[in-house]
Amino acid sequence: MRKPFIAGNWKMYKTVPEAVRLVKQLRVMLDDMEDVEVAVCPPFTALHAVGEALKGSGIKLGAQDVYWENEGAYTSQIAPPMLADLGVDYVIIGHSERRQYFGETDVTVNKKVKAALAHNLGVIVCVGETLEQRQAGETEDVVRIQVEQGLVGIEAPLEKLVIAYEPVWAIGTGHNATADDAETVISLIRRTLGVMFGRDQADATRIQYGGSVKPNNIQEFMARETIDGALVGGASLDASSFAQIVKYK
Ligand code: PGA
Repeated sequence: MRKPFIAGNWKMYKTVPEAVRLVKQLRVMLDDMEDVEVAVCPPFTALHAVGEALKGSGIKLGAQDVYWENEGAYTSQIAPPMLADLGVDYVIIGHSERRQYFGETDVTVNKKVKAALAHNLGVIVCVGETLEQRQAGETEDVVRIQVEQGLVGIEAPLEKLVIAYEPVWAIGTGHNATADDAETVISLIRRTLGVMFGRDQADATRIQYGGSVKPNNIQEFMARETIDGALVGGASLDASSFAQIVKYK
């Protein structure tokens, strides 16, 4: 059984006091959640404070990126041991905004995934097609290649790996994918994992949907057996909307 997993990606929002306030509100609403795994991914500057505010809570802490070297002269970058030291549970890797604006490629995604896993961090690897690619009928090829190249050389078991299928055209636009579309691509991702790592590993790996997930559409996605949770952007910045998403049942 794959435990549903709902993560909030706060992107470049929230100062430290704002982040702590949000997480305190979330603890009141979500600390008793048992059947859904929950994580929040604040910006790096708030990771420590949010980690402290989460002590004793079941809510997990996530970061939004990581570099692949352990240390060195890499101005601005954050190393896996630094995240591990803060008690970070998950790191988002390969988000489409990183691919679009910061030159992230499947090659750098792969290096980051390997480095994070080597430090026992959970990873949420994001894949998804652009609108142009979807309109050109390239969705399945694009996503399959992102999975194959992003995960090449990773060794099973995949228990620390989560994949988020996030169609770029659905992110921050209010135009979510339909549950049918999400299910089709998520099934393709699972088949690709099966070819790479074997059926059992593929069946055990959680795959989230992301892109304009809101309290009023989460149920459609979670009703599908193939969809194991959500990566939530905008709607995770407000405690009550994120709590409603987590309590979708
Ligand atoms: P959104 O973002 O929920 O604001 O569309 C999702 C994401 O980028 O992970």
